[in-house]
This record gives sequence, structure tokens and C-alpha cells, in this order.
Amino acid sequence: MTIKSLIRTIPHYPKPGVQFRDITTLLKDPLGLKVTVDALVKRYADQRIDKVVGIESRGFMVGAPLAYQLGVGFVPVRKQGKLPAETLGHDYQLEYGSDRVEIHTDAITPGERVLLVDDLVATGGTALAAATLISKLGGTLVECACVIDLVSLGGRKRLETADIPLFALCEYE
Ligand code: PRP
Ligand code: ADE
Repeated sequence: MTIKSLIRTIPHYPKPGVQFRDITTLLKDPLGLKVTVDALVKRYADQRIDKVVGIESRGFMVGAPLAYQLGVGFVPVRKQGKLPAETLGHDYQLEYGSDRVEIHTDAITPGERVLLVDDLVATGGTALAAATLISKLGGTLVECACVIDLVSLGGRKRLETADIPLFALCEYE
């Protein structure tokens, strides 16, 4: 069993031309879920992570069990208007559309070592926006971790230009 073999591809979703990489088939498989979370736990267990920040919504599915296993807190980065207390926000472009992400201003204590988690990096715009929020709150971003890197969309290069290392469990062209 490989992680990639459990990821389903849906052609032309949500728009014509997009090959949608669907992790629900990975997560519904007990071994798939375990292997995914365990691989990330293994990489970050000794990295003195203080907080895991997960990006709505699929980043929550990977980030929350990872934070639990690392024994650290979980912080959500959410789409506009979803967080109830005072927020900091940042606008960004998607592979298909544009959006804004927000974080609670009290979610990170300055100096904390933060791991950013999402299911997938495409253009890197979402991760970069979340990284900007973490940095503005005084967090130290250790790495951005994801299940899937869509290599041809250039997210890794874009993140590396901003000095953010990317770790992906698998890649698609
Ligand atoms: C998807 C994915 C990442 C982002 C990647 O989220 O989960 O967060 O797009 O794209 P990028 O690298 O080009 O920014 P989406 O906004 O579709 O939200 P969802 O997780 O709620 O489905
Ligand atoms: N988010 C952005 N692009 C995506 C894709 N091709 N598949 C799944 N999620 C995505």
C-alpha cells in the first residue's frame, strides 16, 4: 500500500481542466490514515514543534491528528468570516479562484515554533498566505508539510523563494 495509491483523481472538478486529487479515499482507509499521520509524526517528533497550524478545511483533517500525536496544540487558519474572535487576514489567489485566510490574533505566542499543515500545495498561494499570518504573529515557521505537492503548479519554488521549506508525502506532475 502506498499513500498515492489511495488518493483518487477526479477529472474536471471543480472546473474543466482541473485534475482534483481527492484525499477522502486515503483518509477513509484505516491504514491509509495511520500511515499518513505516522509519516508526519516521524518527521516532526524531534523538531520541538510548539503548534500545528492547519489550513481549512482539508488541512484540519491531517493537522489535528498530527498535533494530537505530537502532543502540541492545533490552530485553524480559516476562510474569511469563520473565526469568532479578533483576526488577522491575508488575501491570496487559488488554482481556481481567489480567497482570504484568517487566524485568531491570540493563536500563536511570539517565538513559538510552528508547523504549517495542509492536504495539498498547488500554486502555494494558500500556504504562503498562512505563512504570512504566522510570521505577523511572531511565530517561527519550521516547515510547511502536506500530503500532496502538485509539482507543475510551482508551489515548492514559490515557498522556497520565501524561505519556507516544503515537505510532501507524495507528488503529482
Ligand atoms: C485547497 C487545498 C489547499 C489549496 C492549495 O483548498 O486544500 O488549501 O487549495 O492551493 P494553492 O496551493 O494553489 O493555494 P481549498 O481552497 O480548495 O479549500 P478546501 O480545503 O476547503 O477544499
Ligand atoms: N486544490 C488546488 N488544486 C487542487 C487539485 N488539483 N486537487 C485537489 N485540491 C486542490
